Amino acid sequence: MHSMKVCIVGASGKLGRYMVQHALDRGYEIVGVCRERSVGKLDVFKGRITVIPGATDDREVIKKAVSGCDGVLTVLVPWGAHHYSSGTAQAVLDHARLGARLIFSCGWHITRDGKDVYPPSFKAEEKLARWLTRLIPVVDIDDQVEACRRVFASETRWTVVRGSDLEEGESQGLPVWSRHVGDPILESNMTRRIDYALFIVEALENDELIHEAPAIVGCRTPSALAYAAIGPGSTTRSM
Ligand SMILES: NC(=O)c1ccc[n+]([C@@H]2O[C@H](COP(=O)([O-])OP(=O)(O)OC[C@H]3O[C@@H](n4cnc5c(N)ncnc54)[C@H](OP(=O)(O)O)[C@@H]3O)[C@@H](O)[C@H]2O)c1
Repeated sequence: MHSMKVCIVGASGKLGRYMVQHALDRGYEIVGVCRERSVGKLDVFKGRITVIPGATDDREVIKKAVSGCDGVLTVLVPWGAHHYSSGTAQAVLDHARLGARLIFSCGWHITRDGKDVYPPSFKAEEKLARWLTRLIPVVDIDDQVEACRRVFASETRWTVVRGSDLEEGESQGLPVWSRHVGDPILESNMTRRIDYALFIVEALENDELIHEAPAIVGCRTPSALAYAAIGPGSTTRSM
């Protein structure tokens, strides 16, 4: 069997570098894309991955990077400037080969079907972010929303992984997930960044996640421990 070839778009960021490491651990062949000025952040992987420098919303850069790839992992930047996130998503949707597994990262604020229920603190933060972006008009927090709208509407084999608040620290294992923010299992709203990356990389070979937008939370958090995860045959409480 040939080893999987995977493109990581946004490889130099904190999440991106964890994804590179997990993908290397699985023996995948990796092509990383990052901004020219960030290439140095990938020096630790020198000789083990191919790096293509460039803006991730540059269609030619993405076309070259995803060529021949079985999977594409895309970090959607949390705040868009000049449609950076949506441009990146569109380029990946258009240029990845037919049948490739496409996984995108975003925050809990993205909703697929409008059935997510957000805690008041979360709403307050979003309101503040929106107010701030009125002061800094080049920054557009709705661009990640637009990026995901395009992904949801596409006919590709996509998964959109919606991250909770993130923290650094050692791996605790694969996060658990649920379809809607507001589901009790997600209440703790915290995931280790290294495990968020793990979930994204594992999704490459998990066909149950195709056309899902899992909202994730750390598997050792109180809410995850109190409730059973969605999994084969189980959506009920574990205790
Ligand atoms: N932070 C959180 O608490 C949180 C919570 C839930 C979900 N998420 C999701 O997790 C993913 C990663 O977020 P993160 O916070 O962990 O940050 P991160 O991994 O450091 O990623 C930020 C990415 O954005 C790029 N970037 C930063 N500024 C940019 C700019 N001005 N123009 C273009 N690209 C720029 C970075 O590229 P360079 O390396 O070139 O700078 C990097 O690839 C995102 O999809 C985010 O929505 C984050």
